[in-house]
Amino acid sequence: MIIETNQACDLVIFGAKGDLTKRKLLPALYKLEKSKKIHEHTRIIAAGRANWNAQDYIKMVKTEIKNFLNEEINEYVWEKLSSRIFFCNIDVYEQLHFFRLKKILNQKKNINIYYCAVPPNTLNSIFKGLGDAYLNSIPSRIILEKPLGTCLETSKKINNQIAKYFLESQIFRIDHYLGKESILNLLALRFANSFFFHNWNNKTIDHIQITVAEEVGIEDRWNYFDMIGQMRDMVQNHMLQILTILTMDQPKNITSESIRHEKVKILRALNPINMNNINKNTVRGQYSSGFIKGEKVPSYLEENGANKSSQTETFIAIKVSLNNKKWFGVPFYIRTGKRLAHKYSEIVVYFKKSPYNLFKNSKLEILQNKLIIRLEPNTNIKFDFINKIPGLEKEYKLEYSQLKSSDFYQKYSKHLIDAYERLLFESMKGIQSLFVCRDEVEEAWKWIDPIIDGWKNTKNNSPQLYTSGTWGPKNSDLMLANDNRYWYQFH
Ligand code: BG6
Repeated sequence: MIIETNQACDLVIFGAKGDLTKRKLLPALYKLEKSKKIHEHTRIIAAGRANWNAQDYIKMVKTEIKNFLNEEINEYVWEKLSSRIFFCNIDVYEQLHFFRLKKILNQKKNINIYYCAVPPNTLNSIFKGLGDAYLNSIPSRIILEKPLGTCLETSKKINNQIAKYFLESQIFRIDHYLGKESILNLLALRFANSFFFHNWNNKTIDHIQITVAEEVGIEDRWNYFDMIGQMRDMVQNHMLQILTILTMDQPKNITSESIRHEKVKILRALNPINMNNINKNTVRGQYSSGFIKGEKVPSYLEENGANKSSQTETFIAIKVSLNNKKWFGVPFYIRTGKRLAHKYSEIVVYFKKSPYNLFKNSKLEILQNKLIIRLEPNTNIKFDFINKIPGLEKEYKLEYSQLKSSDFYQKYSKHLIDAYERLLFESMKGIQSLFVCRDEVEEAWKWIDPIIDGWKNTKNNSPQLYTSGTWGPKNSDLMLANDNRYWYQFH
């Protein structure tokens, strides 16, 4: 068996005791260790303010991996992983502390990767600290988590700050959706299957719906979320990434440059939504109390620490359109929300009706063919079509049928790669195609900002309440009904 290896790295985690590290990074590192994807000489350097030694930290890591991993810890794998872990006591606001880090790093042999799992207001001190201690030279890499700013201006500020110390080729901006197997499969679906390749445009497609629904509410992160809202939390990044992968032209090859180039073209083609057309094209919602899986849940305004007059949205539906030849005239309806009836993500492609109905006497209304791409859970594809009912009658009798693929990944369930596992692995190899470039982040904000401003400046645009455990506010259904369409229902 060939084991794919990567280069030896010193992976420095800023925010080593934070939530993201515990929930995502540590379990991902454990899994990479288990599948022998980490280079023999790679080390993990936890950077944090606590006056800890490596042993204290390692103890915590084991407890957290047990909490967040869906499997028993294998002691052999754990021994290997824990032997890589070091702890560096560092206050990122103390520039001299970065020289402590420098002493620990093995710059001659290992590539430094800095993972910034920290709040955005800490980032600049980290960039500067690393730069001033000469820890920023090529081939070192730096990984940034979202949110990168809260608007174009603040995101530019972060991008300018980092650009003083690191080149774009050293910067890895994470959108964890790009590490998901089902999102990557969209590329295979579109570009490896000639049937879809040739029918993926406004000649054959009527409209597309994208739903990313969550059951969770805001719970303990109310203060943070309230400043952001669903638009910045999910649409600016994950939803637009899905849209770009779904609509971009075939890249010349699968290198980062080609893929990013095509994605940026789509972001630039987004038709603006602003004060003039915002009421027609967007719907905002906020959850009220209700039931999720039979359990009573509080409203957004009753969550811990809530400000009772908040107007922040927890649900968004938007009618998006693209100003390019391929997609001219095709609406994309996207919706995402917290505390909805089920957690699932799905894309539904509605094809145009045939212009002429040969089977007028069959009494069956000829509906549109639909391709239903379930991203999560149980990734699969369904295709709705019409067939003839067997029989000797003169008239054709027709019925609706559905072709359904089996769950793509059932047979691989033991080896399914988590998004963070993949993204950490790619960053260790230094491959940027699954990371977001500066242009993508900024083009996305250019489209998002006028929408958020539009809400602030338009009357009647406070979020509409929806009951937890439903599919969002009534206006979301109305937006489609106005176009004689309806959301494809969850099955
Ligand atoms: C994060 C958002 O980026 O994505 C969260 O900040 C959201 O609010 C999460 O819950 C959803 O991710 P996933 O992988 O569960 O769809």
